[in-house]
Amino acid sequence: MAVLEENPLAEGLQVRRRPDSCVLTIFGASGDLTKRKLMPALYALAFRQLLPQKFAVVGVARTEESDDEFRERMKEAVQKFGRDEFRDEVWDRLAEGMRYVATDFSDEGGEDAVASALSELDEQRGTAGNRVYYLAIPPSVFPTVVDALGKRRSAEGWTRLIIEKPFGHDLESAQALNTALQKPFTEDEVFRIDHYLGKETVQNMLALRFANGIFEPIWNRQFIDHIQIAVAESIGIEGRAGYYESAGAIRDIFQNHLLQLLAITAMEPPIDFTAESVRNEKVKVLRALHTPGPKSVVRGQYGRGYVEGEEVPGYREEEGVAPDSVTDTYVAAKLYVDNWRWADTPFYVRMGKRMARRETTIAIQFKRAPHPPFEETAQDGLRPNVLLVHIQPDEGVSLAIGAKVPGQGMTIRTVHMDFLYGGAFRTGMPEAYERLILDTMLGDATLFTRTDEVEEQWKLVDAIVSAWKRDRPSFPNYAAGTWGPPSADELLHRDGRSWRRH
Ligand code: BG6
Repeated sequence: MAVLEENPLAEGLQVRRRPDSCVLTIFGASGDLTKRKLMPALYALAFRQLLPQKFAVVGVARTEESDDEFRERMKEAVQKFGRDEFRDEVWDRLAEGMRYVATDFSDEGGEDAVASALSELDEQRGTAGNRVYYLAIPPSVFPTVVDALGKRRSAEGWTRLIIEKPFGHDLESAQALNTALQKPFTEDEVFRIDHYLGKETVQNMLALRFANGIFEPIWNRQFIDHIQIAVAESIGIEGRAGYYESAGAIRDIFQNHLLQLLAITAMEPPIDFTAESVRNEKVKVLRALHTPGPKSVVRGQYGRGYVEGEEVPGYREEEGVAPDSVTDTYVAAKLYVDNWRWADTPFYVRMGKRMARRETTIAIQFKRAPHPPFEETAQDGLRPNVLLVHIQPDEGVSLAIGAKVPGQGMTIRTVHMDFLYGGAFRTGMPEAYERLILDTMLGDATLFTRTDEVEEQWKLVDAIVSAWKRDRPSFPNYAAGTWGPPSADELLHRDGRSWRRH
């Protein structure tokens, strides 16, 4: 503990204690996630001395590769995607405990090879039988791998599983995955990743609400007019047609990241910050979500257009996408949380690929002042108060307030009180995966989704998707580089409101 408190680099990844010695095994180690996110996250943790004293990493994938080739590839990945300067001594220490096992996931012999690599590491590096398995594998091989891991549990130490998305395709398949998991493992051994929960700014939403006395009393239907949540991405599907064609924005973003942002915004204060208390409150919100009618959901798909000055193809022209695909790359919806705090307060949400800009925000729009005593013309530039949480980029929080324009008359305009992470804290922003991998090693599941949350999320998605099956949308209906289809604007105009201006 003392070591960590004195470690200035650990700021932002507050650690209660150093994790137990363990081996982290990544199934699906040849994929993009390992290269872009997991290995750079491990390096960042090593850089800050936050990894266990005795630690090892095993990569498992189908591609034939030697330990050295794997290490070399991972080194390049860290140099390319890491957020810290590359230091040979940090890398060498991490790479020393790195192994690679080439196997087909469903092959018993392969599973034995993994198990024996792990026992060997226990002996060589003193990792004490403690295991973290990171499953970044297709859902089709998931039950076989989980079953094999259950059978080969080491006699000593603990075992924890990190499960990457997609966690199922609908409620039924998610339940089947949960059943497969629950046979050999208990819920507290399962860590379902939603990487948005690992983002600093998402956790800061909890701090903003529950560490300040001024927001909570007005955080309800009496003072809030409505809430807008946007997850806009400027990128397209980045060569992931195989996955995205059957997922769409509704399963890729709405089912997990978006609904988690909403749950955190709407939840009741938990009695403490433990996994069960926090997740108990979130799941109540998910349960209280009213299924939106067809008029309250808009879906879209991008056509050709310009993003950040560059011409980009339409979704149907992307490689691997059917020329008549009806996959949604944009979803907007009006949702209601049917409970005492939020009754009749709309949550307008939207998410899309190939939007004009990358921007994830939560905007809390308050009701207008009941009786502003100024002349109407004096308030021309005045908008209602908005608390805007910038999840990314330009991380921060901004409060829009009315202020007097300097001069003789009484003219009121909207100005912003801003908190910017870059200005307030010296430390860089940790990547979500750093926090989440560390939390798993510490056995803290607060920022992971529980079975019941995932299932509630799917119930809502299933209801929306089954309504979509009734008619064929006319796609594409928005140009790449815009903010979505016109029908999304109408969704708010009908209520006398509009999307937040960018
Ligand atoms: C992933 C989705 O879960 O989140 C991707 O599968 C998406 O399609 C990504 O691009 C967005 O994450 P971030 O952290 O860049 O906002």
